[in-house]
Amino acid sequence: MPDAPQVDLLSDTLTKPTDAMRAAMAAAPVGDDVFGEDPTVRELEQRVAGMLGHEDGLFTPSGSMANQLGIRLHVAPGQELVADSLAHVLRAEMGAAAVLSGISSRSWVAQHGELDAAQPLALMIPDGGAYQVNTRLVVVENTHNFGGGTVQPLDQVQALRAGTRERGVAMHLDGARLWNAHVATGTPLDTWGGLFDTVSVCLSKGLGAPVGSVLVGSSAHMQEARIWRKRFGGGMRQVGILAAAGLHALDHHVERLADDHARARRFAEAAAQARPGSVDPARVQTNIVVLDVSGAGWTAAGFVEAAAARGVRIYPVSPTAVRLVWHLDVDDAGTALAVDALAPLLEQGPSAA
Ligand SMILES: Cc1ncc(COP(=O)(O)O)c(C=O)c1O
Repeated sequence: MPDAPQVDLLSDTLTKPTDAMRAAMAAAPVGDDVFGEDPTVRELEQRVAGMLGHEDGLFTPSGSMANQLGIRLHVAPGQELVADSLAHVLRAEMGAAAVLSGISSRSWVAQHGELDAAQPLALMIPDGGAYQVNTRLVVVENTHNFGGGTVQPLDQVQALRAGTRERGVAMHLDGARLWNAHVATGTPLDTWGGLFDTVSVCLSKGLGAPVGSVLVGSSAHMQEARIWRKRFGGGMRQVGILAAAGLHALDHHVERLADDHARARRFAEAAAQARPGSVDPARVQTNIVVLDVSGAGWTAAGFVEAAAARGVRIYPVSPTAVRLVWHLDVDDAGTALAVDALAPLLEQGPSAA
């Protein structure tokens, strides 16, 4: 087995529960959640719904399931969703909308995953009749993972909402990292949330819970989603112990995301100094840095290997770009170590390996 990395920037899903989180989990009252009898789960669902300006919520084992339930509520088999070509629902949920729900998808290309409302509005066909597939849903991701932690421009989301309302098309927010968008901009969570019919948020990314996401929407939609969750095999029993981790994270781990953002920006500034053009630090708004390593003569795979040899684990997102993600378990010292390890690789290219 290879040596454990000294700094692990592979993903913000890697965080280990803190001692205080584990204590909260151990103390949680529980019940059978399939019967709706777990008080800690209900507390979490209602709290997150309230934070996002929606009527009710549903606890799910993963962000992918929360997204797929949200999608299933709005789109019937044979209809379509549209999302940008880098969206997690299209690239990283294993074709679930097609496989589980018989839904087809089309996409537009968005630089850094950033929303320009005119693109989906031009793409959608809400009334395709008997000839073209009907568009029922637009999925927006905020922050945008593969786009580099991009925060969506609020005015574009508002313009999209106005346009979809006119066309009778629903909107789902993949808000796995909506917490980061909120902390980075100060825009209230319910301002973002209120623009969408359904929203999924993750507790297991920057917030540091070991597992869990919440889907929010209208009470009627959540009742229907509860049935689909069971159908998808996501009915869970005494999972108040997991919901308690989420509640603890909401109390203690939201505001601190600003530290992750500052560290990511600090790294990006050092990277841009070592290799101008590898990243624009001004674009690093949250906890994710996407580095273009081709200017330094690297392939993404080669850079990832050289980084690993220097104790830093990162992820290739394309043949020429790598992704680094800051989280609860990476501090200032870890960030400095990542700079010391990777800046020479960017400056000197493969000869530094
Ligand atoms: C933007 C986005 N949405 C959804 C998910 C899915 O979450 P999970 O891994 O819990 O299924 C992820 C996971 O990384 C993500 O980055």
